Amino acid sequence: MKSEFIGKTQSGIETYALENDNGMRAEIITYGARISRLFVPNKRGELIDVVAGFDTPDEYRDDHGTYFNAIIGRVGNRIGGSGFTLDKKEYKLYANDGANHLHGGKEGFDKKIWTAETGERASLMLSYLSADGEEGYPANLSVRVTYSLTNDNELKIAYDAQSDGTTLCSLTNHAYFNLDGDFKSALNHEIYIKSHAITAVDEELIPHGEILDIENTAFDFSVSKPLGRDINAEEKLLKIARGGYDFNYILDGDNSGAAASAYSKNSGIKMSVYTDRPCMQFYSGNFLDGFTGKKQYPYQSAFCMETQGYPNACNVKEFPSISLKAGEKYHTVTTYKFEICKE
Ligand code: GLA
Repeated sequence: MKSEFIGKTQSGIETYALENDNGMRAEIITYGARISRLFVPNKRGELIDVVAGFDTPDEYRDDHGTYFNAIIGRVGNRIGGSGFTLDKKEYKLYANDGANHLHGGKEGFDKKIWTAETGERASLMLSYLSADGEEGYPANLSVRVTYSLTNDNELKIAYDAQSDGTTLCSLTNHAYFNLDGDFKSALNHEIYIKSHAITAVDEELIPHGEILDIENTAFDFSVSKPLGRDINAEEKLLKIARGGYDFNYILDGDNSGAAASAYSKNSGIKMSVYTDRPCMQFYSGNFLDGFTGKKQYPYQSAFCMETQGYPNACNVKEFPSISLKAGEKYHTVTTYKFEICKE
């Protein structure tokens, strides 16, 4: 197992590679602490790259609003009205999604150059200090993300953060997967999500507090089914989300087994997601429009499983809080495990 420095662009973006003993390999760039490549073995024993992206690090600066495989912060997902009240003080955030704040604002963590340090075995630590007032958030927040590969073909992401005053913190990774590696369509993937409820959203995709029971509806993946099976169902929410899934699933939360999984028959690759987070955004690439990176990325050619806290929790008092107090330790871990399933 190893972690190594690969190179640095003139503009200052570094690339690192992590490799386990089975040949599984992740490449990470310091721009947005993004996973630029993730090679996993398919059923034919070939290594295929299962994440979307670009050929060179600099191209991520214009990622067509995708947030390709980046660390998202301070707060993943949408904050309605781009504001919130904390300790009786009102805060105004940068509005980058109509009137709302999405994925950290104008220049979220996905657009920052992080400081990297290779760790033991196949691991890499990336750190970033978000200054008091950045994008409108209070307090200095120091963040560390550790990526590691294990010999069980897991990519582990550990998130650590600490602040010097009360602030909000809800980090995620915005990886786009296609387990065939060809990014033609994600609709053939068998999806499982251990959840029976989603947070309902308004026309602007903002959760407002209502929790929808999804049992036996088009949103239900608690018994695995092809991503595309019910995607065209007559459901208002599917239409609002540009004809697909872009919803926050409240995980059953019994901490046993995977929170979610995806499987493709073609490659035989199954990916399972393990997390300590209460929720996961399941997004079916409804904003992809066919632009070209490493591959061409048509509409719904990839999916995301973004583990997270409750979105818009800072404005919905019924949702568990995503605030972080001075000196408190934010620590969460999400693991993506890859294996071959033979039929
Ligand atoms: C998230 C959002 C989507 C979209 C993508 C980025 O998953 O929920 O609505 O903004 O990011 O394109």
